[in-house]
Amino acid sequence: MSRILAVHASPRGERSHSRRLAEVFLSAWHARYPESKLTRREVGRVLIPPVNEAFVAAAFYPEPEARPLTMQADLALSDQLVDELLGHDLLVISTPMHNFSVPSGLKAWIDQIVRVGLTFNHTLDNGVAQYEPLVQGKKALIITSRGGFGFGPGGELEALNHADTLLRTVLGFIGITDVTVVAAEGEESAERTFAISAAEAEQRLLALVREL
Ligand SMILES: Cc1cc2nc3c(=O)[nH]c(=O)nc-3n(C[C@H](O)[C@H](O)[C@H](O)COP(=O)(O)O)c2cc1C
Repeated sequence: MSRILAVHASPRGERSHSRRLAEVFLSAWHARYPESKLTRREVGRVLIPPVNEAFVAAAFYPEPEARPLTMQADLALSDQLVDELLGHDLLVISTPMHNFSVPSGLKAWIDQIVRVGLTFNHTLDNGVAQYEPLVQGKKALIITSRGGFGFGPGGELEALNHADTLLRTVLGFIGITDVTVVAAEGEESAERTFAISAAEAEQRLLALVREL
């Protein structure tokens, strides 16, 4: 596992906890695997364009091989992001929870990399749509920070966590089913509460350098 794609989704820079935790993992990974390759993709502080009509027309053009040049241009960024994803073994996403889900930049990135014919296939079986994932052999690590507390498995607010479920569902849809989530919770609680949670997240991330 030598090629990491790190996708950073917080709109915050140096103050971002999810970014800081990601660096804990990435620098420990680099120390253990100095030959590993790291590519960063910023989606929180630069605008990833949302899907528009031109994108939909181009992405679902019935004969992809014969796509007109203008349509190819409409998919240029998406093609680049898909190639980038396919060219790495481990996807590391650092993201805050925003309004019980992920920030819009990360959602926009997802919409760019879920591409029919490239990351999933769509066929009809007796008129009923069937979907087939096309991405193989990759793992994902989600590193997240949340203001509230209890969004994790078995937590009081688990049912309100539409961030992890969205990411697990959409990554599974394209074929990335080995997904680990590490969260720091309670940034909006007492300082000590968050400090403990963040320290636990750091320990888990350091352990994952050996496990992933
Ligand atoms: C627009 C916005 C929406 C947020 N929504 C939630 C939320 O639904 N649940 C939650 O626990 N925290 C929420 N938060 C708090 C962030 O998840 C928290 O501050 C997190 O630590 C930010 O991560 P970062 O430091 O990497 O940006 C929200 C923060 C912002 C700015």
